Amino acid sequence: MTNINLFRNRPVAVIGAGVMGVGIVQVALLAGHPVHLYDVREGAAAAAVEQLTATLAKLADKGKLTPEDVAAARGRAHVASSLTELRDAALVIEAIVENLGVKQALMRDLEAIVSPECVLASNTSSLSITAIARGLEVPGRVVGMHFFNPVPLMRLVEVVSGLATEPAVADAIHMLAADWGKTAVHAKSTPGFIVNRIARPFYAETLALLQDQAATPAVLDACVRGAGFRMGPCELMDLIGHDTNFFVTQSVYEANFFDKRYVPSLVQREMVDGGLLGRKSGRGFYRYPDGGAKTSDGAAEAAPLPAVPWVLHGSGPVADLLATRLAASGLGFTREAEPANAETRLQIGDGVLMLTDGRCAAERASVSGVGDLALFDWPVGPAAAGSTTPGVALAWTPAPQASADFATRAAAALRALGWSPQRVTDVPGLVVARTIAMLINEASDAVEQGVCDAAGADAAMTLGVNYPAGPFAWLALWGADATVKLLDALDAFYRGERYRVSPRLRRATFVQNS
Ligand code: NAI
Repeated sequence: MTNINLFRNRPVAVIGAGVMGVGIVQVALLAGHPVHLYDVREGAAAAAVEQLTATLAKLADKGKLTPEDVAAARGRAHVASSLTELRDAALVIEAIVENLGVKQALMRDLEAIVSPECVLASNTSSLSITAIARGLEVPGRVVGMHFFNPVPLMRLVEVVSGLATEPAVADAIHMLAADWGKTAVHAKSTPGFIVNRIARPFYAETLALLQDQAATPAVLDACVRGAGFRMGPCELMDLIGHDTNFFVTQSVYEANFFDKRYVPSLVQREMVDGGLLGRKSGRGFYRYPDGGAKTSDGAAEAAPLPAVPWVLHGSGPVADLLATRLAASGLGFTREAEPANAETRLQIGDGVLMLTDGRCAAERASVSGVGDLALFDWPVGPAAAGSTTPGVALAWTPAPQASADFATRAAAALRALGWSPQRVTDVPGLVVARTIAMLINEASDAVEQGVCDAAGADAAMTLGVNYPAGPFAWLALWGADATVKLLDALDAFYRGERYRVSPRLRRATFVQNS
């Protein structure tokens, strides 16, 4: 089973001529396989092959394929009118309806038709591979081959092993996916596999912030895009569809025996109940067709800069970034030499602008005795690379104890440093810091539980959902200490299970500090 030649140029069968099945057929045909396509709906497979032929012709028009490639691919495509026509397949990939009973019945039917060596793969995005293989004579040949939509464009394939899956089968599928031009990542069959599990906090943190009225969707989206994400969570949920996104969140929550870490959002359920499903229904967080997060309504503050001494405290990447930006702005400042663990902060006269550590501004003002205090978010993405790209959105909040005058000055200071300051209410961990910390935490648990390794998690998140970096790349940037401190502060503030720190991450803080 370990040899890639097991599959090379051998017949592949795809079952289900929907959006995923057709994409898989395209990839397999262009990799040189004869491909059977079967769908239970009469005429569906034939129509799909016609549609695919038109797609390939368009690719030839654009010069991406030769007419000979198209003709050869078309010649290898076969519309099957019954399952028995799949009997010579070396690999069957099912992309049928997402229903466990239907998938199990299909696998049983296939076992009676294909050869004992034929690998049976499922493209399921939420069902257990262990459960799909249950009751088969050779359950070891069942494996998840989880593609992402649109299949021809998305590079990631999660290769999912259930309890019975033979390691050699998973390895062979991993190699085949690479042969098809994909990046394959091994995953253990657990709820959400890698991507759909680690991505939960990306949506959940924004939904929690909306529930607490921290800011508008446009402000939250601007902040997250400021961290290098192509889309903010609200616009992305509008694109995915709130019904789909809510269903995935709910299924991960239920599959984890209602672990409060994954609890779905009332904000989203209300939208689903009201039919505000996003782009497809004309309205979600935004209205369509004009929709989208075009404005960011927290960015207007502009005030004269205070003629007071500016003193930069702290060390590390954010303090260095502030120093670079202060120098670029032409503002005179001094920098205090301090121990490595000193808090990163910018003293502006009697007031202070501090990097969030997960405690709310009210608490930090109370603890420090400085009422004129404001917090700013983790500058991730372009900013963290030390660039002085102007106008990148950054969340900030004044302490409730701060004077209105200081709040105006704090925003003016962030603007002078080149950011587009986005005011949010005094929520602990602001926007990006709590989102990234939770992505790191979820990924750490996935690795701790053997779902994937760290490299696999980073590849999955950058290729499967286009994150600007993987969770472990962020961990390397921020360190386990700052991440855990932030999560512990959130946990202390909200007192629930959501911010429970991953054992792996907690252990890493001791390593970092020894
Ligand atoms: P779809 O609804 O577009 O297509 C499913 C096709 O399967 C239909 O043409 C239907 O007639 C056919 N079908 C249903 N039961 C069948 C059976 N017993 N035998 C033969 N054909 C049958 O669905 P889609 O979106 O292509 O999803 C298919 C699978 O891929 C599901 O398991 C889904 O969870 C998974 N998936 C979907 C993704 C997406 O973004 N749509 C992403 C990754 C995985």
